[in-house]
Amino acid sequence: MTAKILAVVSPKGGVGKTTVSVNLAAAIASMGKKVLLVDTNLETSHVAVYCSLVGFKYSLEDVLNGLVPVKDAIYRTDESNLDILPSRVFKERGDAIAKYKLINMFHHLKRIGENYDFIVLDSRPSSNIDFIKLIEGVYMVVVSAPEIASMLEAGKLEEDGLNSAISIEGLVLNRVNPKVKGTMSDKEIRKIVSFERVWKIPEDSGVIDALRHGIPMVFYNRKSQSAKAFLRLAQDIVSH
Ligand SMILES: Nc1ncnc2c1ncn2[C@@H]1O[C@H](COP(=O)(O)OP(=O)(O)OP(=O)(O)O)[C@@H](O)[C@H]1O
Ligand SMILES: [Mg+2]
Repeated sequence: MTAKILAVVSPKGGVGKTTVSVNLAAAIASMGKKVLLVDTNLETSHVAVYCSLVGFKYSLEDVLNGLVPVKDAIYRTDESNLDILPSRVFKERGDAIAKYKLINMFHHLKRIGENYDFIVLDSRPSSNIDFIKLIEGVYMVVVSAPEIASMLEAGKLEEDGLNSAISIEGLVLNRVNPKVKGTMSDKEIRKIVSFERVWKIPEDSGVIDALRHGIPMVFYNRKSQSAKAFLRLAQDIVSH
């Protein structure tokens, strides 16, 4: 088994990368696939918070700094198919160094890839996908809000991905609420980007409530519209 690697990316901050990463990983795991969720956002690391992972001893920073082998920083969750490789929420000395070593990530992923069907990488906001380009066989999942600035940046990322021959899984439009003024129509979006596949996740206050409890929405309220949308996204990716 060699894991398919999904990098959840967006140029803009706060559009929902971690929310999508966590729910995508949880949804795929709930379908019986073995999943590792990695927090490669070494600046604003929130995967551990979103999944109630507390008091862990080692993190991705320790792995990148060569202090522990990658297996020592992987933690099981209540969902038997979902493991997490977290980054530290509160930073320590040395963590800044780890940031520059992120470039070596693909060596570590190679080492553990055989144990998983999917590896989901949460990432920091960046229009620079140089780090992702170095990961062999990676698939990019672009997250954007359905508004003009976010879409323009997603368009640049799409172009960059296409120029580098990175595989693009598709675009996730997060926090979709047609009642909000400025929400772009499908036609307007198509003028800016040409992703083959687009998924829509509705704006849902339940997502924030789930986050408050540290439980992915797909486990917190599986019947909600947003959980169903995350499950559809996962299903499409698993069956692609
Ligand atoms: N579909 C949604 N409906 C309602 N709220 C949402 C939805 N998706 C995300 N949010 C909320 O938006 C906020 C930002 O989400 P998130 O942390 O996932 O963004 P991010 O892109 O990872 O941010 P950063 O760039 O800082 O890493 C969170 O409070 C989250 O609960
Ligand atoms: Mg985040």
